[in-house]
Order: sequence, then C-alpha cells, then structure tokens
Amino acid sequence: MIISIFLFSIFTFRFDLVKGDDVRKFPDYFKFGVSTAAHQIEGAWNVSDKGENIWDHLTHTKPSAIADGSNADVACDSYHLYKRDADMLVELGVDFYRFSISWSRLLPNGFSNKVSQDGLRYYNNLIDELLSRNITPFATLYHWDLPQKLQDLGGWTNPIIVNYFEDYARVAFESFGNRVKNWITINEIPQICTNGYAKDIYAPQVMSSGIGDYLCGHNALLSHARVWHLYNDTFRPTQKGRIGITLYSHWAEPESNSVEDKAISERGMQFLLGWQAHPIFSSEGDYPKVLKEAVYNRSMEQGYSHSRLPVFTLEEIKYLKGASDFLGLNHYTSVVFRNDNKTEWMSQFPNPSKERDLGYDSYFHANWPPTISAWFAVNPPGLKHLLNWIKNEYTNPEVIITENGYLTRGGLIDVDRINYINQNLQSVLEAILDDHCNVTAYSLWSLMDNYEWNDGYRFCFGLYEVDFKSENRTRRPRMSAYVYKEILRTRMINPYYLPSFSDFQYETYKSSASILQCHMKIFSISVIFLLMMHFLF
Ligand SMILES: *[C@@H]1O[C@H](CO)[C@@H](O)[C@H](O)[C@H]1NC(C)=O
Ligand SMILES: *[C@@H]1O[C@H](CO)[C@@H](O)[C@H](O)[C@H]1NC(C)=O
Ligand SMILES: *[C@@H]1O[C@H](CO)[C@@H](O)[C@H](O)[C@H]1NC(C)=O
Ligand SMILES: *[C@@H]1O[C@H](CO)[C@@H](O)[C@H](O)[C@H]1NC(C)=O
Ligand SMILES: *[C@@H]1O[C@H](CO)[C@@H](O)[C@H](O)[C@H]1NC(C)=O
Ligand SMILES: *[C@@H]1O[C@H](CO)[C@@H](O)[C@H](O)[C@H]1NC(C)=O
Repeated sequence: MIISIFLFSIFTFRFDLVKGDDVRKFPDYFKFGVSTAAHQIEGAWNVSDKGENIWDHLTHTKPSAIADGSNADVACDSYHLYKRDADMLVELGVDFYRFSISWSRLLPNGFSNKVSQDGLRYYNNLIDELLSRNITPFATLYHWDLPQKLQDLGGWTNPIIVNYFEDYARVAFESFGNRVKNWITINEIPQICTNGYAKDIYAPQVMSSGIGDYLCGHNALLSHARVWHLYNDTFRPTQKGRIGITLYSHWAEPESNSVEDKAISERGMQFLLGWQAHPIFSSEGDYPKVLKEAVYNRSMEQGYSHSRLPVFTLEEIKYLKGASDFLGLNHYTSVVFRNDNKTEWMSQFPNPSKERDLGYDSYFHANWPPTISAWFAVNPPGLKHLLNWIKNEYTNPEVIITENGYLTRGGLIDVDRINYINQNLQSVLEAILDDHCNVTAYSLWSLMDNYEWNDGYRFCFGLYEVDFKSENRTRRPRMSAYVYKEILRTRMINPYYLPSFSDFQYETYKSSASILQCHMKIFSISVIFLLMMHFLF
C-alpha cells in the first residue's frame, strides 16, 4: 500500500516536472559566481615586498585569538595556485569570480607612494587568467585586511581613512580597471566594525563598544561613497564598469504575526541592515530615524554630551544617497528578536553597545536546523523575506547576492550544504519570479575551504575541499560542487539531482559507507517529501 502510494507520488510528481508546470528557471540575465577573499586564500603573506595587514598582525602576535591557533601564512596558497583555482571555476561553469585585492600586497605601506610590482604582477596574472577562461572578474577592494600601518593610526575609526582608501582605490582602477568591470568597495560593515572595533573577535580587536563600531561604520560609509564618486566621475567614462558596496544582513523574523512583533522585527532590520543601507539606498538618505533616536536617547541617559552615533552633514547625506550601482548582499541566517525585559541576556553585552541600543534579545527559532556554528541556523525562506524587505524599503534596487553558503567540518559528501544551496536558491527564485525582486546575480561562499578567520581551518565553506596538510594544498570537488554545476547548467533547481557515477569520482573517496548513508538520507528525505506532496495536492 505504502509502496504503491510512493510510486504513484513519484509518477505524478515527476510527470508534472516533465510537463514543465513546475519547472521554474533563473532568468537569462541572471549570473552565477563563487566568492573568496584575498587573506583567506592567498597565503604568501611575506613574499616580495608585501606589507603586514591586521590579520597577519593579530594571528602572529596573539594566536589564542584563533580557535585552532592557526594563521593564513599559506592558507590555500592561491598566490601560487591561482591557475588551479581558475580550472575549478571552469569546472563549475560559473559566469564570474568574486575575489578580493589585498591592500598591503598592492601598497606595502598602505599608502600609494609605493606600489608593489609583485602585487601588480600577481593581480594582473589572476585577472588575465580569468579572462582567458571567459570568467568575469568581480573584484572587492576591501575584505577585512587593512594594512597594519593604517591600523596604527586608528584604522577605520580615523576619518583620514577616507583619503587613504581613495588613494588605494585609484591605484586599483588605474591598474586593473581596463579589464575589471565589476567592483565592490567594502565587504560587510557590521563584521568589520562590530567584530573589529566593538569586540575582541576580529582584527584589530579594538574594544570600543557602542562608540568605535559606529565611528568605524560612519567612516566606512564615507570611504565607500568617496570611491564610488571617484569611479563615477573619473573612471567610469572610459572604463564603463559598475561599482557597489556589499552589506551583511540576517533576516529578522517576527516572533509572531502580531503588530508588536512585526514592529520589533522592523526595528531589528533597521539596526541590522538600515544602519548600512539607509544612507545609500533610501530616498531620504542618512541613518534610519529609529537608529538615530534610539542611540541619541540612550547616549543622553548615559550622560554623554552628544549621540554616540556620528552625525552626517547635509552635504554628506546628499553625497552618500544613491552612491552605489547595486546593493551587494551577504546573507547566511535569520534571527528572531524579542522584547524580553529579563535582564540576564542584556548583561552579556557591554554598556554601551549596539545590542543595548537595540534593546532586544535574539534567538534562533526552534524549527531552524542548527549548524556547527553558534551564529548560524538554517532558515532559507528568510532570504526571500529579506529580499522583499529590501525591495519595499529601498524601491527595488538591483541586488547582487555576493555571499551565501554553508559550513561543515569537512568531508566530500556534503548533503547539508546541497540542501542549503537548493533551498536558498529556491528562495531567490521565488523572490524574482513571484515577488519581482530585482536580484541579478548570486555568488556562493565559497569556491573552496579557506582560512575562516577566528575559526581557523576547522570550519569548511568550500564547494572544493582543500587539504591543508598537503604541500600542494590539493583541491577536490565535493558532491555540492557537482550540484552547483548542474544548477548553473540547467538554470533550475532539481532537489533530486545527484551526480552520476561518472561525474563524481567515487573511487577517490575512501569511505563508501558514507556514500551509502548519503543515498539513504536523500532517499528517505525524498520519500517523506513525495508523500507530503501527494497528500497536499
Ligand atoms: C615568511 O614567513 C614564514 C612563516 O610563515 C617564515 O618561515 C619565513 O622565513 C618568512 N620569510 C621571510 C622572507 O621573511
Ligand atoms: C556620475 O557621473 C556622471 C557622468 O560623469 C555625472 O553626470 C553624474 O552627475 C555623476 N553622478 C553623481 C551622483 O555624481
Ligand atoms: C527617544 O526619546 C523620545 C523622547 O522621550 C521619544 O519620544 C522617542 O520615542 C524615543 N525614541 C526611541 C527610538 O527610543
Ligand atoms: C517587564 O517590564 C514591565 C514594564 O516595564 C514590568 O511590569 C514587568 O514586570 C517586567 N517583567 C520582567 C520579567 O521583568
Ligand atoms: C533593476 O535594477 C536596474 C538597475 O538599477 C534597473 O535598470 C532595472 O530597471 C531594475 N529592474 C526592475 C524590475 O526594477
Ligand atoms: C606538488 O606539485 C608539484 C608540481 O605540480 C609536483 O611536482 C609534486 O609531485 C606535487 N607533490 C605532491 C605531494 O603531490
């Protein structure tokens, strides 16, 4: 009986697929890519005249800051192995490769009076290699690796950074802009500023909670705008490329459908994404009103003479508004905020802090599968809600998803990553086709396992596994690499797709038991799913 229901379900459901009713494809204009960042993959931290950056400095002076005490001195050794990386991009069939340029590899002192010939050579080679393989280079100028010499002057909390970031960007545009037509200025203000200038997590571990983080964010936004205007006015007329900023946001899921809970979620979104996006993408510009008021009110209560949130001049508000060609979005997880006036959870945050300014407790919904990392639970519909929030809040700007991905402890059979990719891309597809969100590209984090900051090498985000114990940093495709390749080939999501034996070189995998387990898992998930489909429709 069960078996016949099952067979019937398969038949009817698959028949629908074949008929094409349920086949929903990514639009022709939609582009796929994969992402990496210089410090996480390049290694060669001290070759030639490369300067020290803040992560070199942190990991060499305080290895205890990193879960496994490791550093990125060699990492994936992409400095030497970039041609192998290019092979992998071709194997996957991506349209573009999002990598970042190391500021202190290009400008060893951080300043533009000295440009490294070796840095120029490396990035020229990488870019030329990509173009020769028909892969579009998508370059990020700043992915967290500030030259230590600039940090010695206060880094992102010193307003002079705006000038030095502009100098660096000018060298990059002059050197590579004839071939690189897609640029991102800065990657993830909250991670740079909250983890780096409010907490002792990321380099430079300046613990200036509730002050340094806002100041860093302020200068990062101004730096972005300066470079956008530089590109728009000086380089775009001849180079004809595009330049935007990449922001990070969780989705703040309302605890319930009540008006109160929706208001809490909304306030949470303004603190998470509005902080970074409102000055650039809203029609009125400046920080969100609720953020300005909340920080001002609390600063006054705390006896400060003015708000801990810096104030933009009218001229700056105008200068930032609209200063991005697209909204780069990094997204991994959702959270729920709740207005819980039990005081214990608040006591984990210093006073002052952005968390206390927000004033809400946050947690993961019990239905969201946890991951191996404390900051990350799985809620794929959150991405669709987030894209809709952006559409409504900022009048449907073009969005490029510059990061989204899943972490494991390793292993080539990565069913959880496959499910994560399928479900998140499903969410993107629905946002585009059903809700008309203006999403034009998706770049998966990451091409391969790499130096995962404070988690060192213990967490793996790669479509390709990297053997960090091997001299050659051998890269091997995971099962997810074949699934992503198939999505790119067919431009649709097939949750039943498994790589064929000829694609997936099983003989290279020692543990046949895990392959069996994987098939059992996929099989049982499919059975449950098909039964559900059968009874629902
Ligand atoms: C570069 O750093 C490595 C450690 O990662 C060290 O062994 C080597 O001596 C350094 N090379 C130079 C030229 O300083
Ligand atoms: C961008 O550059 C174009 C062409 O040079 C110019 O007309 C336009 O005013 C610039 N945009 C802004 C916001 O400055
Ligand atoms: C800030 O304080 C004013 C005056 O008490 C109050 O009206 C407003 O709602 C407060 N705003 C926020 C966001 O807390
Ligand atoms: C929460 O705050 C309200 C009003 O400020 C108060 O009446 C209530 O007792 C508080 N609840 C807890 C659990 O502290
Ligand atoms: C998407 O954004 C681009 C760039 O701003 C714009 O040209 C296009 O019209 C937008 N599409 C939609 C459907 O809003
Ligand atoms: C590493 O790569 C080099 C150059 O391709 C090769 O000669 C060598 O045999 C490789 N070593 C290992 C352990 O695979």
